[in-house]
Amino acid sequence: MKKIDITTNINGIRLYSCIMNASGALCSTEKELSNLLKSSSGAIVTKSCTDKPRKGNIKPRYFEWDIGSINSMGLPNLGIDFYINFLDGITTNKPIFLSISGLSLEENYLLIQKANSSTKINAIEINLSCPNILKKKEILGYEFDTVYNFLKNVFRLNNKKHIGIKLPPYFNDNDIRNMAFIINKFPISFITCINSLPNGLFINSIKESTVIYPNKGFGGIGGTIIKSFALANIFKFSSFLRKDISIIGCGGISSGIDIFDHILCGASAVQVGTQFIKEGISVFDRLKNELILFLKKKKYYSINNFIGNLNKN
Ligand SMILES: Cc1cc2nc3c(=O)[nH]c(=O)nc-3n(C[C@H](O)[C@H](O)[C@H](O)COP(=O)(O)O)c2cc1C
Repeated sequence: MKKIDITTNINGIRLYSCIMNASGALCSTEKELSNLLKSSSGAIVTKSCTDKPRKGNIKPRYFEWDIGSINSMGLPNLGIDFYINFLDGITTNKPIFLSISGLSLEENYLLIQKANSSTKINAIEINLSCPNILKKKEILGYEFDTVYNFLKNVFRLNNKKHIGIKLPPYFNDNDIRNMAFIINKFPISFITCINSLPNGLFINSIKESTVIYPNKGFGGIGGTIIKSFALANIFKFSSFLRKDISIIGCGGISSGIDIFDHILCGASAVQVGTQFIKEGISVFDRLKNELILFLKKKKYYSINNFIGNLNKN
């Protein structure tokens, strides 16, 4: 029986499994990162960090139900120095993605410079989807001119790491086309799409109240209900982006077939957020087994056999 190969390559970064965690899902503390190290995930993505540690928003700030999750975490993290020290002290063959989410553009430049000094970090995933980032609480990824100027400055730095950006979901063709046009001007290694759907609301009908406290109950939506938006963004970006830019799919993955679908739409690897939080570290073994089983049925022996091969009818 031929072995099924689920290794992948993100612009030269080799992963022995195409399945990794999404930033923010059980990847903030030393214990959580150590668990990820021991797991069968193909890479480690850290919680988006800021320069100084942050406690984040008041609790409850995360809630999940059968088909989704809502969160308004407020970027609780231990600060970049903790993540760099921790990562530089470990031995692993898994690639390390440091996620950063500065509260200003200047803070992001500082974070990138600090990350460049690490010996273990392979890639920096810049979170362009966090609503805290600008004073007016706009999501940076929706401010096209600002993103362009920001990236210009990022690539003026003496970067020693792969640079990728994590994007919010876009809901029309033109936005994806315009964002791809900007991205194509820079030596970006990968994009990750999508981050949570912003500004959702989930309520408790019995208590007649919101389920999370910060932000009047509004928050980012993840989980099964956002999968279609993730697939649409991956598929559209893959047709507009330069071919050397890899796509990491994220959003609504809870089964091996979900992973297959992300890859079919153009992702070279995937990240799992809500389902990882729900199920814990064993999710990576289960998803890997389900993916392999499905590929066997389809008679695919490598994910390279079908990346981006969705029939357009
Ligand atoms: C509790 C929680 C915290 C998150 N924190 C971050 C974060 O710090 N940085 C980031 O880029 N995305 C963050 N996200 C978004 C996820 O990485 C992911 O993009 C989103 O949840 C969609 O994936 P999913 O459907 O698998 O949950 C967070 C999501 C959740 C549920």
